[in-house]
Amino acid sequence: MFRKLLLASILSVAMLFAVTESELLNSDDILYYSIRQYTKLSLSLNGKNGFISTGNPLSPEWNLSEVGAWTVGFYGGSLWMLYKLTHDDYWKSLALEYQERVKPRQFDTGTHDVGFVIMSTYGLALEYGNITDNATRREYEQIINQTATSLSTRFHPLSGCLRSWNTHQGSEVTVIIDNMMNLELLFRAHEITGNATFVEIALSHANRTIEEHFREDYGVFHVVGYNETNGEVARKYNAQGMADNSTWSRGLAWAIHGYTTTYQFTGIELYLETAEKAASYFIERLPQEDSVAYWDFNAPLDNGEYQPRDTAAATIAAHAFLNLYEITGNKSRYFDTAEAILNGLENYKANSKPEYQIPAILVNGTVFFYENDFDTSITYADFYYLRAFDMYRQIVEKLGL
Ligand SMILES: *[C@@H]1O[C@H](CO)[C@@H](O)[C@H](O)[C@H]1NC(C)=O
Ligand SMILES: *[C@@H]1O[C@H](CO)[C@@H](O)[C@H](O)[C@H]1NC(C)=O
Ligand SMILES: *[C@@H]1O[C@H](CO)[C@@H](O)[C@H](O)[C@H]1NC(C)=O
Ligand SMILES: *[C@@H]1O[C@H](CO)[C@@H](O)[C@H](O)[C@H]1NC(C)=O
Ligand SMILES: *[C@@H]1O[C@H](CO)[C@@H](O)[C@H](O)[C@H]1NC(C)=O
Ligand SMILES: *[C@@H]1O[C@H](CO)[C@@H](O)[C@H](O)[C@H]1NC(C)=O
Ligand SMILES: *[C@@H]1O[C@H](CO)[C@@H](O)[C@H](O)[C@H]1NC(C)=O
Ligand SMILES: *[C@@H]1O[C@H](CO)[C@@H](O)[C@H](O)[C@H]1NC(C)=O
Ligand SMILES: *[C@@H]1O[C@H](CO)[C@@H](O)[C@H](O)[C@H]1NC(C)=O
Ligand SMILES: *[C@@H]1O[C@H](CO)[C@@H](O)[C@H](O)[C@H]1NC(C)=O
Repeated sequence: MFRKLLLASILSVAMLFAVTESELLNSDDILYYSIRQYTKLSLSLNGKNGFISTGNPLSPEWNLSEVGAWTVGFYGGSLWMLYKLTHDDYWKSLALEYQERVKPRQFDTGTHDVGFVIMSTYGLALEYGNITDNATRREYEQIINQTATSLSTRFHPLSGCLRSWNTHQGSEVTVIIDNMMNLELLFRAHEITGNATFVEIALSHANRTIEEHFREDYGVFHVVGYNETNGEVARKYNAQGMADNSTWSRGLAWAIHGYTTTYQFTGIELYLETAEKAASYFIERLPQEDSVAYWDFNAPLDNGEYQPRDTAAATIAAHAFLNLYEITGNKSRYFDTAEAILNGLENYKANSKPEYQIPAILVNGTVFFYENDFDTSITYADFYYLRAFDMYRQIVEKLGL
C-alpha cells in the first residue's frame, strides 16, 4: 500500500516535470483511462441490441439507437481502435460482434452515411483487425464494394454530387459538407475492385463541393441545395450551425478531414490546398485557453449567453491535423495544434467532474444546439479521439519525444 502510494507520488512528480517541460500527453494514463471507460461501457451494453449514440454525462447509460442510424459504426470502430492499441482479444471479439450487426447496411441506398458505417467497422477490420483468413478478407472487401455500389446510386450527374439527405427530393439534391467523409469508401472500393466509376464519382463530388460549399475565407456552408432539373445551386443554407452564413465547427472539421483523405488517396494538390486552407480557418479561430472549438465559429462569445464547445469537432480536426502533419511535415502547425487540442480535451473527460457517471471518454459534445442537445457524450467524439490518440502515440514514438 505504502509502496504503491510512494510510486504514485514519484510518478506524478515525474508527470509534472513532463508537462512543464513540454506539452507531451501522458499516453499511458490516457490508454488506461480509455480501457477502463470502455470496459465499463461494454459491460453495461451486455444483452442490449441498440447502438450507443449520445449520452447525458449524469447518466450511467448511453442513449441507444436502432441499426438504421448514421452513427452505428462508431462503437465498433472504437472497439477496433482499442484492439489496435492493446492487442487484447476481448476488444476484437466485441468488434466482430458489432460489425456483424451493421452488415445489412451494405445494401442501404437511402442515405450517404453508409461510408461512415462500413469504413469504421469493416474498413478498420481490414487495416487493424489481424484478419488473416483470406476468405474472410475477401468477404469484407466485397462488403465494401457492395456498400460503394449502394452509395453510387445516389449520384446525381447534373450537379456532380452524391445526394446526402433525401429532403426536398423531387426538386432539390441536398448535399451537406459532412458528405466528404463518405468518399473514403469509394476510394477503398476502387482499390479493391479497380472500378474507376467509384473514383470519378468521388472526385466529381469533391470538386463541386470545393466550388460551392466554401466561402472566400474557407469557412463553409453546411448545406447546398442543387436544382434537381438542371444541377444549378438553388440555395445555400444552414442546418446544425448557427446561421446560413456562419461556420459550424463540426462541418469544417468534416471538410478538413474529408479533403485530407481525398488527397491521401489521389495525390491531387487541389485537395491538399483545400484541406490546408480550411485548416487555417479552424486553427486561427480556436479558443486560446484550450484549443477546443466552440460549436460554431461565429457564435457570439461576448453577449453573456452560454455557448457550448463541441468536443467532436475537436477530435475530428485533431485526427485530420495529425494526418496533415504526416503529409506536410509541418510540425509546429499540425502536430502542435493536435497536441494542444488533445491536452485541452483533458478538461472535457468523463472523469473531470465527480457528478459525471457516463462510461464514455469525453463529454461536452454538441449534437444540435437549437435542439438543446449539447454538453453530451457522443459516440463519434470518442471514436475520433481514439483515432487521434493512437496516431499521436505513434508519432511521439517515432520522433522519440
Ligand atoms: C438521451 O437521454 C437523455 C437522458 O439520459 C434524455 O434526456 C435525452 O432526451 C435523450 N436524447 C435522445 C436524443 O434520445
Ligand atoms: C493474428 O492472428 C493469428 C491467428 O490468425 C495469431 O496467430 C497471431 O498471433 C495474431 N497476431 C497478433 C499481433 O495478434
Ligand atoms: C492469402 O493471400 C496472400 C496474399 O494474397 C497469399 O500470399 C497467401 O498465399 C494466401 N493464403 C492462402 C491460404 O491462400
Ligand atoms: C462500377 O461501379 C458502377 C457504380 O456502382 C456500376 O454501375 C458499374 O456496373 C461497375 N462496373 C463494374 C465493371 O462492376
Ligand atoms: C461489386 O459489387 C457489385 C454489386 O454487388 C457486383 O456487381 C460486382 O461484381 C462487384 N465487383 C467485384 C469486383 O466483386
Ligand atoms: C476534379 O478536379 C481534379 C483537379 O483539378 C481533376 O484532376 C479531375 O479531373 C476533376 N474530376 C472531375 C470528375 O471533375
Ligand atoms: C429548377 O430549374 C428548373 C428548370 O430550369 C426551373 O423550372 C425550376 O423553377 C427550378 N427550381 C427551383 C426550385 O429553383
Ligand atoms: C451573417 O448575416 C447577418 C445578417 O445579415 C450579419 O449580421 C452577420 O454579421 C453575418 N455574419 C457573418 C459571419 O458574415
Ligand atoms: C508551417 O505552417 C505555417 C503556417 O502556415 C508556416 O508559416 C510555416 O512556414 C510552415 N512551416 C514549414 C516548415 O513548412
Ligand atoms: C461541459 O458540460 C457541463 C455540463 O455537463 C457544463 O456544466 C460545463 O460548463 C461544460 N464545459 C464547458 C467548458 O463548456
